[in-house]
Amino acid sequence: MAKISLQHINMIYTDGTGTNTQALKDIHLNIEEGEFISVLGASGCGKSTLLEIISGLLKQTSGHIFLDGKEVTGPSKNIGVVFQDSSLFPWRTVRRNIEFGLEINRRSKADKKILVDKYIKMMNLTGFEDRYPQQLSGGMRQRVGLARTMVNDPEVLLMDEPLGALDYLTRQTLQDEIVDLWRRENKTMIFITHDVAEAVYLGTRVVLLSPRPGRISNIYEIEEDRPRRRTDAAQLALIEKIQQRLNEISSDREDIRAYI
Ligand SMILES: Nc1ncnc2c1ncn2[C@@H]1O[C@H](COP(=O)(O)OP(=O)(O)OP(=O)(O)O)[C@@H](O)[C@H]1O
Ligand SMILES: [Mg+2]
Repeated sequence: MAKISLQHINMIYTDGTGTNTQALKDIHLNIEEGEFISVLGASGCGKSTLLEIISGLLKQTSGHIFLDGKEVTGPSKNIGVVFQDSSLFPWRTVRRNIEFGLEINRRSKADKKILVDKYIKMMNLTGFEDRYPQQLSGGMRQRVGLARTMVNDPEVLLMDEPLGALDYLTRQTLQDEIVDLWRRENKTMIFITHDVAEAVYLGTRVVLLSPRPGRISNIYEIEEDRPRRRTDAAQLALIEKIQQRLNEISSDREDIRAYI
């Protein structure tokens, strides 16, 4: 049985004036346990919408989502989300940000300490436990955001461009940390990105969405050869191929054409 099954998902937003925006069209995909799905697509094609629907935070207009064969009808502790802006609580220290989900779940003080310490170490945040988010670098804030979700030990991790705002080197380091975590803890990942190279480096499959309304345009399988080398010829060729396809499917986007 698929870990996650997306069956014919459609999403149409209706705003206050009655204007309809179709964000997703007929998304149909089965994701197996332990897969790392990278989702690529142009800005506004519906990636965050898809993630929010999978997380149970947003209700699709039509279609069904199943987790382990059970329909998703609302947020579940088995699904963790790292949001696009990874907004931390500014009034809480690093430790207390990471602890947040454990507080909600009423875990004991001793459990909280053991678990938070584990993720502080794993995310290289040792020494920064008592700092506030505004005293951290962007990369550290992203790590706290990851730790805050990971500490709840969800089976499925949804990540919405978690590395988007980072410099090249920090981004590469965190990519490797995410891959290590995924392999060690056998999570099922759905990782959204704009970056074709990142999608190919991380994923077991890359799902390419068309411009809005987001539809599955192509799915690319990637050979499982970890650790991967970023300069691997087959990987570079696949990046090129996906980039070309992305250009093709984007060429009829009216919003971009208006500026050319
Ligand atoms: N609450 C909302 N009400 C109306 N329209 C919305 C709402 N949220 C998103 N949309 C529209 O749905 C479409 C998809 O938005 P979404 O945020 O899912 O895109 P995205 O692929 O995540 O973009 P980006 O890469 O820029 O983050 C966009 O056209 C957006 O304007
Ligand atoms: Mg988005």
